[in-house]
Amino acid sequence: MILPILHFPDSRLRTKASAVKTVDKNVKKLVEDMFETMYAEDGIGLAATQVNQHLQIVVMDVPDSQDDYELLLKDREHKVDKKYNKRHPLCFINPKITSKSNTEKHTEGCLSVPGFQADVERFSKITVEAINEKGEAFTLNANNLLAVCIQHELDHLKGVLFIDYMSKLKQKRLLEKTKKLSKG
Ligand code: NI
Repeated sequence: MILPILHFPDSRLRTKASAVKTVDKNVKKLVEDMFETMYAEDGIGLAATQVNQHLQIVVMDVPDSQDDYELLLKDREHKVDKKYNKRHPLCFINPKITSKSNTEKHTEGCLSVPGFQADVERFSKITVEAINEKGEAFTLNANNLLAVCIQHELDHLKGVLFIDYMSKLKQKRLLEKTKKLSKG
């Protein structure tokens, strides 16, 4: 099911997400719907906050990211046949960034701020710990765009948008533009 996405300046985007207690049927259905919504909207990442579900869940699929991650499941090694898998769907439940290094500027966009892009400084090398949609704990080492995307999506779970990193003046202009658009 494709879910409606909240758009800036909707105040619900500022909600802090709660931790998921158990990966039950409802959580699995939400993850499935979030992937469907993200692919339908041509996004590379989506946080539950953006579909008005305030749980710590993020889905992601960064194209051509095969050389940018190493995924380690707690109990076994996650083997992905990277050569034949074009898609790299990743689901992060209760994610935590445990290490970060190397900063870089990247141009970002967001399904909740359509038609707008801005340069944001992020870490280009991170380690994140989370649970997947099967309830398995994993550690992911990520680089480059994938690392940037994870930080962007984890911000959503804290009620933070990428435009918050822009100057106050630019934010004001964006808000005025958005208001004009919504008035038609
Ligand atoms: Ni976003």
